[in-house]
Amino acid sequence: MSAKLISGKEIALKKKNEIAKEVEALKQAGVTPGLAVILVGNNPASRSYVTSKEKTCKELGMHSLLIELPETITEQELLNKIDELNHDDKIHGILVQLPVPDHINETSIIEAIYPDKDVDGFHPINVGRMMTGQDAFLPCTPYGVMIMLKETGIEIEGKHVVVVGRSNIVGKPQGQLFLNENATVTYCHSRTVDIKSITKQADILVAAVGKPYFITEDFVKPGAVVIDVGINRNSEGKLCGDVDFENVKEKAGYITPVPGGVGPMTITMLMFNTLKSAKKVLQKLQSTGQIR
Ligand code: GUN
Repeated sequence: MSAKLISGKEIALKKKNEIAKEVEALKQAGVTPGLAVILVGNNPASRSYVTSKEKTCKELGMHSLLIELPETITEQELLNKIDELNHDDKIHGILVQLPVPDHINETSIIEAIYPDKDVDGFHPINVGRMMTGQDAFLPCTPYGVMIMLKETGIEIEGKHVVVVGRSNIVGKPQGQLFLNENATVTYCHSRTVDIKSITKQADILVAAVGKPYFITEDFVKPGAVVIDVGINRNSEGKLCGDVDFENVKEKAGYITPVPGGVGPMTITMLMFNTLKSAKKVLQKLQSTGQIR
């Protein structure tokens, strides 16, 4: 193997330790960071993500509220629940696990969460703030990728970054975060002609396609940084990424594994965003003299 491994697991551990210390300090000052996670229905993958979020919250000393709602809930009932949490002082972050069932409008749900509690960074206010370089909640997976690169000491300014995938959750914001760091960004997607000819120009290649082993070594420039955001099951049911790791690792300069790569960073950044939200609340309470 020639590529250096970027261990998201290790970086996440370091970040979580830092967050836990800050959580403790905040608690001492009178505010316990609280995250509410809403799960609608019984999708096994969603359930597993939600369970990990709850577990990590507890590990870091945060208040965690898991709300499980039946598949049959109406959109209005879900909106009412969100409104209740918007006004709950113990809750600093609200996350509705996506996807929601087809009879519920995802956009209405995302827009119902107060931007100041939108720790997913999906509300248009946060998306707009991110685009214009203002302070915002940044979406956890793309944000986690940026932190991994920073912690590894990989320079971004002036680099050609190619993002494969254009979802609202990962691809689109990922490109924007790189642009904010002065990279030159190209997006590839399902309608791109000759993807390979473009990805081969990448100094940093981010795969967020959702297709097992989509990125093979012939997509990669020698020495490139390859970040694998994919979480898929291969034909044998084994967890795998969008990158053909075994072959690409011989050509890349740096590579992230699956599992143990971007995945652990996503949850960590969710905790970071919840902490950030709680810190803002404490500052407000202090500045208005409600807490000393
Ligand atoms: N479903 C898949 N990824 C995510 C995420 O980051 N946040 C939410 N709310 N749902 C998701």
